Amino acid sequence: MNKENSVSRVNPSQAYRLLNHGPTVLVTSTHGQYRNIMAAAWNMPLDFDPPKVAIVIDKNTYTREPMEASGSFAINVPCRAQAEMVVRVGNCSGRELLGKSPDNKLAAFDIPTFPASEISAPLIEGCVAWLECKIVPEPHIQNTYDLFLAEVVAAQADERVFSEGRWHFEGHDELRTLHHIAGGQFFLAGKSLQAG
Ligand SMILES: Cc1cc2nc3c(=O)[nH]c(=O)nc-3n(C[C@H](O)[C@H](O)[C@H](O)COP(=O)(O)O)c2cc1C
Repeated sequence: MNKENSVSRVNPSQAYRLLNHGPTVLVTSTHGQYRNIMAAAWNMPLDFDPPKVAIVIDKNTYTREPMEASGSFAINVPCRAQAEMVVRVGNCSGRELLGKSPDNKLAAFDIPTFPASEISAPLIEGCVAWLECKIVPEPHIQNTYDLFLAEVVAAQADERVFSEGRWHFEGHDELRTLHHIAGGQFFLAGKSLQAG
């Protein structure tokens, strides 16, 4: 669990709601001594049952290596307060840090983490939602399109902005999620509208 704020478990069957509004996310992965983090804007819910997501992870990324080796990864949903960090980890590679102690971007940028419940990848403190994902192996689309399908095996969210299956950012501007356009320009999650 995130140690600073109240978070509640989200039934994986409703985890798609954590991505349905299209946030840029942070992907974390680990294998053996290697841990890494990168930004990923190209992600989406894929299926309700079993709950699945799809995400594009370029073959040149270092994050992909421990992700493929472990068969799992975490999707962390960052917020406005973390925008600078999102751009930073999305603009340099953990590979550049190899051979330099302590060998990973999480340590280099001093990004606090806490353990996931079902996978080994670390979860990022200060995010507003976390999805623990196990890769559904599809070598052809992984190699051809850099597209990974994964089952969500656990999820949780910050109760201040997500409860009873709904996002509600009013009164929590620093916790609004980030939606990347290009070149470091984001929109923040905006007003909620109920229709129908
Ligand atoms: C806002 C933002 C969104 C990004 N979205 C993606 C994405 O969806 N897929 C991807 O492969 N790379 C994406 N990137 C680029 C990776 O984050 C970048 O290549 C990163 O340096 C990879 O780090 P690594 O080599 O340490 O894994 C994005 C970068 C930024 C800044």
